Amino acid sequence: MAKAKSKKIKQIGVLTGGGDCPGLNAAIRAIFKKGEQLGFEIIGIKDGWEGLIKKPNTKKLKEADVRGILNKGGTILGSSRYNPLKIKNGMKKIVESFKKLKLSALIVIGGDDTLGIGRKLPKNFPIIAIPKTVDNDVKGTDFCIGFWTAVQTATEAIDRLHSTAESHHRVMILEVMGRRFGWIAAYAGLAGGADYILIPEVPIDIEKLCQTVRERRKKGKRFSIIVVSEGAKFQGKLVSKTGQTDLFGHLQLGGIGDRIAELVGKETGIEVRVVSLGHILRGGSPSAFDRILGTRLGIKAVDCVAKGKFQKAVVLKGNKILLIPLSKIEGQKKVNPDIYKTAKVFFH
Ligand code: F6P
Repeated sequence: MAKAKSKKIKQIGVLTGGGDCPGLNAAIRAIFKKGEQLGFEIIGIKDGWEGLIKKPNTKKLKEADVRGILNKGGTILGSSRYNPLKIKNGMKKIVESFKKLKLSALIVIGGDDTLGIGRKLPKNFPIIAIPKTVDNDVKGTDFCIGFWTAVQTATEAIDRLHSTAESHHRVMILEVMGRRFGWIAAYAGLAGGADYILIPEVPIDIEKLCQTVRERRKKGKRFSIIVVSEGAKFQGKLVSKTGQTDLFGHLQLGGIGDRIAELVGKETGIEVRVVSLGHILRGGSPSAFDRILGTRLGIKAVDCVAKGKFQKAVVLKGNKILLIPLSKIEGQKKVNPDIYKTAKVFFH
């Protein structure tokens, strides 16, 4: 009797790289669910590119692994800023591990650094990219997974700062993430009713800022809320407390709020306090928006694999999930000028 041919199950690898953010688990869960329905096995790669380059560190995902993770922050796969370009034959090792693991596609969920590595893989490498980062600075998509949760967290912080600022008649400065561009500062500042917003896209004008603070007082408002992106340049330079850089060469940012506070305090004679949200913006349960976005992008990524469409990124445009060439997500994505213009209406 002829032996029944065993159908080889195809395996999709998935990794999360760079800074974590809320909504990653929603994407992983969706990739697993859709993958299972289409007959794929999903292989979770641990700690970003590191899990492929060092001794491969993987786990075949099972239903139980993705159960109850939709509302959880972070990533069940772990993440790292491991840079394959800094490792001897790093890029070659990715391809070798991919083959050794017998994967037929790789879904990479990351920000500009992680996806940048994906872009440098051979042009026939079966990769699909999903943009995520609270900084929202990946080009080609309106919003990245994680951004709206961070905006919500920062907005809540501004709401809380209002009462204490008002009670003490102080200037409160809130420093938020945003390395290259000021997406979180602009959106949360607008949502929280900030009196002034400083973003990397617009050079800091301390005179103008102090004038705004004084004018607000003359009009009877005895407190001010200023939101600043960590990546806003002070006297033309990025501010760092540690001076350390990560594996992609990025300076560890932090401290711009204190520098601004010193000048505003001196210039206006008003008491100033600074709060830096830092990694709090990357933590916690994802907003409904990020859960839905992660889910939609994850499903679309698996659909692409099933259709054999590779070297693409799945992105959000308006309310549509689209597929665009990987090359189209490279470059800068500054804050929409219209948003900053809208926020500026309230700087008076
Ligand atoms: O993920 C982007 C980002 O949040 C930047 O805004 C911030 O400068 C950086 O990550 C901090 O990264 P790390 O986790 O390496 O301290």
